[in-house]
Amino acid sequence: MDNCLQIANCLSSPNPSQRSLNQLTASDRAVHDWYRFILSFPPHLVRQCLEAFQITPQQRVLDPFSGTGTTLVECKKLGVPCIGTEANPMAQFASQTKLSWQIDAAALLQHAQQIVETVSSDLALFPAEGLHPTLDPEAEKLLFKDAISHRPLHKLLRLLKEVEQRSHPQFYHHERLALAKVAVLASNLRFAPEIGVSRQRKTDAPVLRLWLEAVQIMASDLLQVSPQRRSPSQVYLCDARCLDQLQPGSIDAVITSPPYPNEKDYTRATRLESVLLGFLQNKAELRAVKQQLLRSNSRSIYSQDTDDQWSLGYPEVLQLAQEIERRRQAWGKTSGFSRLYGRATRLYFGGMAKHFASLRPVLKPGALLAYVVGDQASYLRVHIQTGRLLAEIAQSLGYELVDIHLFRTRRASKTEVDLREEVIVLRWRG
Ligand SMILES: C[S@@+](CC[C@H](N)C(=O)[O-])C[C@H]1O[C@@H](n2cnc3c(N)ncnc32)[C@H](O)[C@@H]1O
Repeated sequence: MDNCLQIANCLSSPNPSQRSLNQLTASDRAVHDWYRFILSFPPHLVRQCLEAFQITPQQRVLDPFSGTGTTLVECKKLGVPCIGTEANPMAQFASQTKLSWQIDAAALLQHAQQIVETVSSDLALFPAEGLHPTLDPEAEKLLFKDAISHRPLHKLLRLLKEVEQRSHPQFYHHERLALAKVAVLASNLRFAPEIGVSRQRKTDAPVLRLWLEAVQIMASDLLQVSPQRRSPSQVYLCDARCLDQLQPGSIDAVITSPPYPNEKDYTRATRLESVLLGFLQNKAELRAVKQQLLRSNSRSIYSQDTDDQWSLGYPEVLQLAQEIERRRQAWGKTSGFSRLYGRATRLYFGGMAKHFASLRPVLKPGALLAYVVGDQASYLRVHIQTGRLLAEIAQSLGYELVDIHLFRTRRASKTEVDLREEVIVLRWRG
């Protein structure tokens, strides 16, 4: 069958506005559900791409924006070698841990039970919050106000201390990842429509029970996936705009979902657990992480940023930035952030151009690529056709456009317009 038709058949969805299209189904929960964030795409979409690209276990897949590892976990489940790059240390840790399956599941559970016993009796003796351990004041400043109530925080810190004291070479990362998941469950955070603090505060939460349940799920998933545990997988903590550390000519396919120009600060989605687990200890570290990320919002732009140089060759991107600025002035918007919307758009598309350029040496000739991206209207309601523009940029850098496939539509909350989320399929000519 013609390659294009084959891809269209595999990726077709009868009802693109269906909410469930982007959700994790019960049959896909194993491993994926150890830790996910709001920005994740669904495993079934990855499977459809793998099928469309006819990927075999003799090939290697890359996700350059691997997030919590949906592409990588799905590849590993199917025995396909995979590599990820991710610039947020919490997400890199999560995806790397989700790929670590060489674990004695029964011993993991036993170790976790011992930890819970110790912490339970300790909490019974010293129940009061505010006692040691506490968060470092510089790290605490990074949390949103009331992100988590004192009591659940105290329990989490006590649990974390025990996990660290009993640090086990096989189980340490899994136990910490389970703690990250529980931290979010025990917090006051909400993730939709925007990431922030809910009005309804949880004054307490059954932290130890939730944590043990999370570890139990890991243990049972590990038994389920054990036959596939040997396929190689690795996630690098690095910037997808500079992929020098990957082996040249080693990648057969890319399946990924990069950030969109949507005014979301991606570090907010993982802030609580990043602070708790020590990935972010102060403002300087937060800034350093943000600088490694694509510029997709006006809150994370720095005077020394240069990615907009890469957008100079794309008149449509420049026109878009001008239209955003024109509308800002027409609408009388004067905030510092709104003044940066045009530049954020140029930096975003410039950064993606840099990424596509940096990716070229890593790909095998004929490699197929799937980029899942959404149209946006976050900048003063100016419609940004993210997928179409990225396809043009990729084509200018030597990629062939195979297809732009509609994955689903999302209703924009402010404009009530349906925005397209698409799979951009490219081929690297080599
Ligand atoms: C839409 S999310 C990917 C979600 C992922 N598909 C999943 O299922 O969890 C985009 C990811 O790109 C990461 N990212 C942003 N800029 C990056 C960069 N320059 N290099 C590597 N990763 C980056 C963000 O931290 C975020 O985790």
